[in-house]
Amino acid sequence: MENKLLQNGRIIGKDGEVTSADIRIRDGKVTEIGQALGEAGEDVVDLSGKLVIPGLIDLHIHLREPGFEAKETIATGSRAAARGGYTAVACMPNTKPVTDSTEVVRRIIETNEREGCGVRVLPIAAITRGSKGGELTDMSALKEAGAAAVSDDGVGVQSPQMMKAAMRLASSLDLTVTAHCEEEDLLVPGACVHAGTFAEEHGLPGIPGESEAIHVGRDILLAEDTGVHYHVCHISAEASVRLVREAKSRGQRVTAEVTPHHLLLCEEDIPGLDTHFKMNPPLRRKRDREVLVEALKDGTIDFIATDHAPHTAEEKAKGMKEAPFGIVGLETAFPLLYTKLVETGVLTLSELVEKMTRIPAECFGLPWGVLEEGRAADLAIIDLETKRKVEPAEFASKGKNTPFAGWELKGWPVMTLVEGRIIWQETEAKA
Ligand code: DOR
Ligand code: ZN
Repeated sequence: MENKLLQNGRIIGKDGEVTSADIRIRDGKVTEIGQALGEAGEDVVDLSGKLVIPGLIDLHIHLREPGFEAKETIATGSRAAARGGYTAVACMPNTKPVTDSTEVVRRIIETNEREGCGVRVLPIAAITRGSKGGELTDMSALKEAGAAAVSDDGVGVQSPQMMKAAMRLASSLDLTVTAHCEEEDLLVPGACVHAGTFAEEHGLPGIPGESEAIHVGRDILLAEDTGVHYHVCHISAEASVRLVREAKSRGQRVTAEVTPHHLLLCEEDIPGLDTHFKMNPPLRRKRDREVLVEALKDGTIDFIATDHAPHTAEEKAKGMKEAPFGIVGLETAFPLLYTKLVETGVLTLSELVEKMTRIPAECFGLPWGVLEEGRAADLAIIDLETKRKVEPAEFASKGKNTPFAGWELKGWPVMTLVEGRIIWQETEAKA
């Protein structure tokens, strides 16, 4: 078990003030936070004034294994997570086969133990068999095998009757239903961007905001008397936010996540027919983006998740209608949000960190996400000073599909620890 002393770090106090501190780690746990703690013979790591935060937690990523190893593997995806400052990630079940059996859940856990770099990987199991919407999975067995929640992410559960049954079952097992909200009856073939100005200008079929919001509203109604914890994945439309806000005001157990790209980009930012701006849900109106930022700040949207969705360059080169939906996110999330939301004064540093650590952990009942004595020493060390460009070629992820290439950012992770063990460390000094 890991013992060490992190010296000369800076931590965010309860009041949001950043102060210098040493952190003692014993047996993988934080045992002491204080000043000048060094003792003779201790294994000391000098952080030279870098920020120490709880390891980031991303409850919505795609690791692609089993089945789509050309896009990503658990080995490469976990390294991408560590490089992004993440210590725990939950991976969606749209693998091949779909994560709808205990075998696949166990396989993901075992592969991560064998080939992962030390990041905690929590498999999310499917709601319906094959995520086809027709038959519920054996959620009890899936939970027993280690599933952290259930989702048919990638597609919406189309039948309200099926969703209601899923919620009843998940509630009885205390499993979160984390829903990809999309009503297919409102989609047109080939829809690839938001049904708005960009779609019109380029003559492309669009995805309307209502296709998301109608599921959010439907599901909130369906969840009401089941007691289930219902969570909205990658919320993107103003109307969806309104519905979540109303449900929360009545005290319903509803939570929501938003991605960095929906917070920072809108349809007006799509530079042309560039599939690095194609994801589902799509980049919507400026107004939607503003509403998302406001809702994240006021707590209507609980936390940030990246929807890290790696694809190969060949797949992404297919053109706007044919290329798959999705962009990578693990290795740029913190610097993007620090630079664009904290440095601009929209969120405080403490707010941003909480929305990427403590709040997702609490929403999903996970024991991590807080830097305090007695907790596991899952930590991210961040350099808030050095400015660096996003360089997809340097990503540990196999996926280089990002719309943020070339962006100049601050707030880069430089070291990640899980249970006190350094699982990743920036080696080359890049200016
Ligand atoms: O953009 C997306 N990519 N949205 C999804 O819902 C699925 C994901 C993927 O699996 O690539
Ligand atoms: Zn999704």
